[in-house]
Amino acid sequence: MKIVQVASELFPYVKTGGLADAAGSLSATLAKHGHQVCVFLPGYRAVLDHPDASGAERLLRLKIEMGDVFMSGEVRVFSPRPNQKIYLICRDELFDRKGVYGNGERDYEDNYHRYIFFCKGVVETLRQLNLQADIVHAHDWQAAMLPLLLRYTERRTATALALKTVFTIHNIAFQGLYPMRSFYRTNLPDELKGVDGLEYYGQMNFLKGGILFADQVTTVSPRYAQEIQTPEFGCGLDGVIATRAEDIVGLINGIDTTVWNPATDAHIPASYTASDLSGKATCRAGLLKKMQLDPAPADVPVYGMVCRLTEQKGVQLLLANRDFFLNHDCRLVILGSGDKRLEQAVRDLAAAAPRKIGLAMRLDESMSHLIEAGSDFFLMPSLFEPCGLNQMYSLAYGTPPLVTQVGGLHDTVTDADASPDAGTGITFAPDADALREGLQRSLKLFADKPRYAAVQARGMATDNSWDNAARAYERLYTELL
Ligand code: ADP
Ligand code: GLC
Repeated sequence: MKIVQVASELFPYVKTGGLADAAGSLSATLAKHGHQVCVFLPGYRAVLDHPDASGAERLLRLKIEMGDVFMSGEVRVFSPRPNQKIYLICRDELFDRKGVYGNGERDYEDNYHRYIFFCKGVVETLRQLNLQADIVHAHDWQAAMLPLLLRYTERRTATALALKTVFTIHNIAFQGLYPMRSFYRTNLPDELKGVDGLEYYGQMNFLKGGILFADQVTTVSPRYAQEIQTPEFGCGLDGVIATRAEDIVGLINGIDTTVWNPATDAHIPASYTASDLSGKATCRAGLLKKMQLDPAPADVPVYGMVCRLTEQKGVQLLLANRDFFLNHDCRLVILGSGDKRLEQAVRDLAAAAPRKIGLAMRLDESMSHLIEAGSDFFLMPSLFEPCGLNQMYSLAYGTPPLVTQVGGLHDTVTDADASPDAGTGITFAPDADALREGLQRSLKLFADKPRYAAVQARGMATDNSWDNAARAYERLYTELL
């Protein structure tokens, strides 16, 4: 199949979260499986500076209609592997910035403008190259306008650009909400300003466009596909989702086993496998030393956490269990940054026990690998989690995850107490008391070495590879076509 993937981030070029991992691995795996894959990405400075992109070819000049003005741009292309081309939609004024979505304090105010330009650039490139895609697959709100812009351009220019469009919601909490007066930049007909179009309580909602106008809508886990049809998880779009209930399917993400594999991981001080875990002890000692924490005897558990410090990730539930970490003999290592208020609260927690609780408040790919390898348990008490990748990395690294029973966490981790013969971690409801009870159960599990080893082994034997996950997308595309 000729498959076009459109996303606002892509590992290893630009990443703020799991979207980059998912879009990067899905497109690379589809290429490996023999499909012809074209990926579209904004030409951010970070991408242009990446060694892979250094020889990128200047392919096209763009002239994009943005409301009542035309704006120029450029398309560059490079090919990181057979069957895969990466097209960069470039315009320095929009994408040559330090951050991806914002300056660290707040989002850029012209994001609607940046991503309308991006989506229109994609459509224009498909048109000029006469690419004739089988599938155009757009991810999250930044690319949500694509199905609509594409169909509208096809009608206006009487050309065929794609047979089918797919739109994936990685996180319904991010919708791309902007004042309705930004609508004119889309150059779409006025009827789309209404409630059957992009209007959402008087504003323009990008995500709604993707949900309503793609041929197929997907989310990143089966459980999340159900959850977002309820007011509790739908973030105000559950009604819109309900209108497409028959066209929504949840396909779980995979993990890139060339990047996340303790047997070959170059970021960790010792490699290990399911049959020989001795290297994991070296990683554990290395992690504690690097975080300047007291060494931990073998019976003292080390808890790790890597995430954006936001409400989604359940940081408040962790903070509410402050006493657990202060009163028990254990270690806690946190890597993450985000919400300033939560950052301060986590800083205070670490300051209360500086030899037991370590904190790194930055983006650090290498450290995230060391935490996966060096921890005895991985914490993911998310309030909601469309898929979640770290719990799957944890399973692969023999680090049983403690997770809430939501979204992809529910779909990928089995509780060791409820299912003694199948358990791979510890699961609990998304509230502070349930987390406390989960933490207590983790102490018991850790004290029972044979049982803990069995849970580790089952996790490491789980196949969460993208090879599997991408097959599900291939079946979906084939059915659609
Ligand atoms: P989300 O996309 O909601 O942030 P995921 O679990 O899908 O959650 O993916 C998060 C990804 O970002 C993982 O690969 C994780 O290791 C990575 N990550 C999050 N915070 C950091 C950090 N501070 N440093 C390095 N990697 C991080
Ligand atoms: C989003 C979600 C996360 C998911 C990722 C990749 O960022 O928050 O749960 O794993 O997208 O699909």
